[in-house]
Amino acid sequence: MTELFRPLTLRGTTIPNRVWMSPMCTYSAESDGLGVGQPNDFHLTHYGARAAGGVGLVMIEATGVVAEGRISAFDLGLWTNEQVPAHQRLARAIAEAGAVPGIQLAHAGRKASTERPWLGGKPVAAADGGWPTLAPSAVPFPGSPAPSAMTRADISAVVTAWADAARRALEAGYEVVEVHAAHGYLLHSFLSPLSNTRTDEYGGTLENRSRIVLEVLDAVRSVWPAGKPVFLRISTTDWVAEDAEDGRDSWTLADATALAGWAREHGADLIDASSGGLVPARIPNTADYQTTNAALLKAGSGAVVAAVGRITDPMHANELLVAESADAIFLGRALLRDASWANNAATALGAQGRYMPQYAYAV
Ligand SMILES: Cc1cc2nc3c(=O)[nH]c(=O)nc-3n(C[C@H](O)[C@H](O)[C@H](O)COP(=O)(O)O)c2cc1C
Repeated sequence: MTELFRPLTLRGTTIPNRVWMSPMCTYSAESDGLGVGQPNDFHLTHYGARAAGGVGLVMIEATGVVAEGRISAFDLGLWTNEQVPAHQRLARAIAEAGAVPGIQLAHAGRKASTERPWLGGKPVAAADGGWPTLAPSAVPFPGSPAPSAMTRADISAVVTAWADAARRALEAGYEVVEVHAAHGYLLHSFLSPLSNTRTDEYGGTLENRSRIVLEVLDAVRSVWPAGKPVFLRISTTDWVAEDAEDGRDSWTLADATALAGWAREHGADLIDASSGGLVPARIPNTADYQTTNAALLKAGSGAVVAAVGRITDPMHANELLVAESADAIFLGRALLRDASWANNAATALGAQGRYMPQYAYAV
């Protein structure tokens, strides 16, 4: 059987193949009024088309666990019960098209409160509807206002918000929850010594900087059924050289590998291995810039790992699995270009695609 189209069972959930839709913000929710943070007709069409196109799992974009944790005012959210029914409709549409519905739960930390990227992505000032940001330390993301350093009470509130959002995600019918700890957002900014200068038990050593991530995993696991998987998306590196000019350490593959091991003990079933996003950095311009780290992370931690980044070719995707460099593939931009990438890949590889009955008899 072609590896890319071999099912993967994690806990009690069987994902029908290993081509998955990577979480991608669409910044398309209502920004105020009753529909704030709720999936609408756009989201239904967008995600429904990729599900019908044959992916095994659709990971809904970064969804705010609190309103101030959104990247923009147009992000999805699950911070109130009122947001659940619209998510129910979306999760059901994905499942009806044969894909497993998953959702990424996120807090943007010091990178919150920005304009939509196609309008420039700049920070939005309070006078224009923006909001103050929170982070482990008052260290700004370059070009953004300084965040407030979180108090212990802020930290425990955010951990609880993650559990509450996971409970709502379950009610909505999602089968997988992914904790977003990558790309410089709140949890990643705790992990990296470049953004975390705390001197309490949430800063300093690798164990201390990792603490909030493990607390979030515990909190999510406390409400998420034992039969359903939890994923953790991390950056495997900040792409900042060890000898950065200010002499401060950054987040490295070795750190990420240690975290992956601890995350398994705290109930994470899969590590989604991304990279970067903490600070502007020079990222290698190669096809394997990120998948190599995924393979090293997998070998070093023994975790189940999904690779992502610049994967566009079905043969290449399949080879990564055959070589045991990864257990599954997340596709981002390739799926924006071609909603039926998975079914087309199945044809190219001589494997069985997954057409809905409305199409199967005709194609
Ligand atoms: C438009 C867009 C939005 C994205 N939004 C998210 C997001 O919500 N959460 C996340 O973890 N990554 C996000 N990403 C990163 C993708 O999930 C993916 O990791 C990245 O695009 C690399 O994969 P690719 O080369 O297949 O596109 C986004 C990427 C794009 C292009």
